[in-house]
Amino acid sequence: MVNRQQRLKVIEGNQQETGGNSRQPVAVVTGAGKGIGRALLEELHARGYLVVAVVRSLADVRELFSLAPQHILPIRCDVTEPSTEVVLKEFLESQVGTIDLLINNAGFGATGYGITGLDFKELDNVLAVSCYGPIRCVRACLPFMKASSRATIINMSSRFASLEWVASGAVPHEQATYPYRIAKAAMNMFTSCLSIELKGSGIRVLSVDPGKVKTRFGPRDADVEPADAAKAIVDLAEKNVDTGIFVHASGEKLPW
Ligand SMILES: NC(=O)c1ccc[n+]([C@@H]2O[C@H](COP(=O)([O-])OP(=O)(O)OC[C@H]3O[C@@H](n4cnc5c(N)ncnc54)[C@H](OP(=O)(O)O)[C@@H]3O)[C@@H](O)[C@H]2O)c1
Repeated sequence: MVNRQQRLKVIEGNQQETGGNSRQPVAVVTGAGKGIGRALLEELHARGYLVVAVVRSLADVRELFSLAPQHILPIRCDVTEPSTEVVLKEFLESQVGTIDLLINNAGFGATGYGITGLDFKELDNVLAVSCYGPIRCVRACLPFMKASSRATIINMSSRFASLEWVASGAVPHEQATYPYRIAKAAMNMFTSCLSIELKGSGIRVLSVDPGKVKTRFGPRDADVEPADAAKAIVDLAEKNVDTGIFVHASGEKLPW
């Protein structure tokens, strides 16, 4: 494993190449082994980021580590585990000094539909991955984001999180479970609370709906390639958009 000292040397090297005016930007992506997370990792790497890739399996750690060990740093972390906050923070402390972008992407759904199909264990699990996990990752990353002149936190949400769209029927009731909608709505509330608390700090917080993306989790009528979703999301992160908003990856504002 390359240590922080060696990495800082690489970063210094990059600064010399660019005349000393910039440092390598740093991103943390959860659920970076598959689907949209993997595409985000590839897009960020292609744009010159140092990417901390949070994955659950050892196989993913090994595979990602072999890609570009100076620029992609995999860490094995199940974000539903309370230890995530400490484990991730210690890793970041030893490997990076500053974080410019955190994408809380890890997520999954539930299987039981309707109120009778709701399983409390599934509700617990989905809340753990979509709400508690992002809170833990934010707490681990925040000290390092304060060192960035312009940091962004993206919480990967869903159109099914919109209270207005669920209430109006704009998103079909039968297409999503209660746990998924409840957990993503809780994530959106976290986005809103955090954006207020961090106003003035230079750290922006957004909830982003990636669209219907062709992944193992995506809907049957998915029409967006993961690489296209990732490109749009990183474009959004690099644009000067407002904090405390719920947006589609295209930048179109969505109703809370
Ligand atoms: N695809 C869509 O159309 C769509 C639409 C709206 C929102 N989203 C959101 O986009 C995000 C990514 O979804 P996707 O479509 O890319 O799904 P995916 O292909 O199933 O990928 C999900 C990723 O999250 C990881 N993950 C799950 N639980 C985790 C945990 N506890 N700790 C760490 N990593 C964990 C998975 O790791 P493993 O491989 O180890 O399971 C996997 O890498 C999710 O938050 C989802 O809700 C997707």
